[in-house]
Amino acid sequence: MSETGKFSFDDKTVEMPIKRGTIGPAVADIAKLYGQTGMFTYDPGFSSTASCESKITFIDGDEGVLLYRGYPIEQLAEHGDFLETCYLLLYGELPTVKQKADFDYRITRHTMVHEQMARFFSGFRRDAHPMAVMVASVGALSAFYHDSTDIADPNQRVIATMRIIAKMPTLAAMAYKYSIGQPFIYPKNDLDYTSNFLRMCFAVPCEEYKVNPIVSRALDRIFILHADHEQNASTSTVRLAGSSGANPFACIAAGIACLWGPAHGGANEAALKMLAEIGSVENIPKYIAKAKDKNDPFRLMGFGHRVYKNYDPRAKIMAKTCHEVLTDLGIKDDPLLDVAVELERIALHDEYFIEKKLYPNIDFYSGITLKAMGFPVSMFTVLFAVARTVGWIAQWKEMLEDPSQKIGRPRQLYTGAPRREYEQMASR
Ligand code: SDX
Repeated sequence: MSETGKFSFDDKTVEMPIKRGTIGPAVADIAKLYGQTGMFTYDPGFSSTASCESKITFIDGDEGVLLYRGYPIEQLAEHGDFLETCYLLLYGELPTVKQKADFDYRITRHTMVHEQMARFFSGFRRDAHPMAVMVASVGALSAFYHDSTDIADPNQRVIATMRIIAKMPTLAAMAYKYSIGQPFIYPKNDLDYTSNFLRMCFAVPCEEYKVNPIVSRALDRIFILHADHEQNASTSTVRLAGSSGANPFACIAAGIACLWGPAHGGANEAALKMLAEIGSVENIPKYIAKAKDKNDPFRLMGFGHRVYKNYDPRAKIMAKTCHEVLTDLGIKDDPLLDVAVELERIALHDEYFIEKKLYPNIDFYSGITLKAMGFPVSMFTVLFAVARTVGWIAQWKEMLEDPSQKIGRPRQLYTGAPRREYEQMASR
């Protein structure tokens, strides 16, 4: 027997179907609300609004749980590699040995980009932010790969999916190399995904480059942590762009643009800059006070989350990885790490943060780790985008395969001027 909920307004009462998922909150299906009451619902930040049905990722913000296709993030980060997670997010099951080998082979053979992309890069200033370059160059893929932009063709959707996952690291490395005036390094097919990316970033033509296996394993784990996260702002952007039928490269470019914001993926860059600005443990109380001051726009970057009202499970793994990488690289006393550890300790005992349930999120420790690996701050969000591409494209794929899918078109509460007549300028 189907469940319903009642909504009463003035003299009207409407019944709305209640839908229950596998786990997590049920939803009230309000699709017919406007037709039956002439009213919209109002939820500007979508805090109480489910935009879609999905089987990909589940977050329990109160318990600090993150599942990719039902598997806990802790287990995937511990046991698998990033391409295994990509396969899982795309197809719903962990791959067999043969399926994984085939997937790795296909991704590896799409890592090169059209040679004319190199000329595309030369149009940028060398000091362009790499995220600006990524938004542009990923969008430009639709100008080079016309044979995989027809979203109505399932085969073209598969090829576009392989291409975008495979080419993001190559474009990211090109953006980095271009910013430091070094020549682009081509991918090598005998390297795994993350080792290939590290080599394209840090190798130079003048000498052999040896990938540090500790750094490669740690970065691969960081990619797993960032791969998907339900209907976050950038994923919702990709879904909305895709709902109009835009090609996948344009949709991912839209996701990259949204991720760039400091309230979202740009927080890892902002968090490291904040730690550097705080500078020393002695300065922490001043910044905690700023974060609590309603009249001060300052926020503790890398803290807080729309969904997690407990510790972000990714942040725990990120913190562990951070300590491992710094130890393995022989970085004993990183002042930024000292500030981060003390800032976290103070904040977690402060009434304001406890009452507002503000915990470190994935961006709090990632910057320190990436800096230790040799990446400049400007590349941090680019790395987030490389990892999140599989989540974006998996959610885009799920949306297009949903038979109920249609263009997303929210309504509004209008508070502007009522109808009025045009006045000639002379009489204004
Ligand atoms: C990511 O959605 C996702 O899943 C995103 C992400 C993903 O994987 O895709 O997890 C990645 O974006 C992580 C979040 C990275 N952003 C930051 O670290 C930036 C700093 N954090 C804040 O800007 C904020 O916490 C947000 C944007 C993350 C969440 O903001 P919300 O849910 O809109 O919450 P809010 O702004 O309404 O804050 C609730 C209260 C407010 O106080 P009151 O108005 O109720 O008095 O908490 C305060 C805020 O002022 N608050 C903070 C704070 N974050 C929230 N106060 C100080 N420092 C902070 N960081």
